[in-house]
Amino acid sequence: MEYGKLLRVYLGGEAEVRIYENVVEKIRKPKRYRHPKLDETLRRSRTRTEAKLISLARRLGVPTPIILDVEGDKIVMERIRGEPVKNVMNEEISREIGRMVAKLHRAGIIHGDVTPMNLILSDGKVYFVDFGLAFIDDRVEPKGVDLHVYFESLKASFENWESLKIAFIEGYREEYEKADEVLERAEEIELRGRYVEKRML
Ligand SMILES: Nc1ncnc2c1ncn2[C@@H]1O[C@H](COP(=O)(O)OP(=O)(O)OP(=O)(O)O)[C@@H](O)[C@H]1O
Ligand SMILES: [Mg+2]
Repeated sequence: MEYGKLLRVYLGGEAEVRIYENVVEKIRKPKRYRHPKLDETLRRSRTRTEAKLISLARRLGVPTPIILDVEGDKIVMERIRGEPVKNVMNEEISREIGRMVAKLHRAGIIHGDVTPMNLILSDGKVYFVDFGLAFIDDRVEPKGVDLHVYFESLKASFENWESLKIAFIEGYREEYEKADEVLERAEEIELRGRYVEKRML
């Protein structure tokens, strides 16, 4: 595949993401504080895990980029052309995000970072592009944390966060029979957080 022109580079905490016209390269950066050999092993295994979970999600019907290549600490994937959900968020999109997170949770996949920056609206579909913090775990607690992270990101970015949260919950319930258990846990996690905040005053 012809890469095309380099359009943008994102420098995150973990990775360097290079956006070309046709493909995206995600390269995990070395950490200086880790032993070089261990660092290389960790970067390779996290890269492989991320690529595997991106492909697995796609097979479950959750839109994600097609993985074109995995090489050491680098993933080459399809570039999704569209708008970051952050710029176009509405209730219908949040409901669809709820359905897609439900599909992941049903399969025991925890995304770890469901925020509007990691989602791209393209062709009327919501693409999940960042699985850098994703892992497999079928317990209620990490699923509750996953929802909590999303709800907090809504509060941080949108004035109508409450209706976006309600729409997400509707979508999540449609696709996941254990939704209520996880939603209850997410509320509990929020209360725990508030309790800790109060104690620190
Ligand atoms: N396949 C893709 N197509 C289009 N844009 C992408 C793609 N992958 C990533 N991006 C863009 O690049 C940005 C950074 O990518 P990503 O979120 O994967 O990196 P990160 O947040 O630095 O990673 P991590 O959370 O693993 O540290 C995304 O917010 C998104 O805008
Ligand atoms: Mg990201």
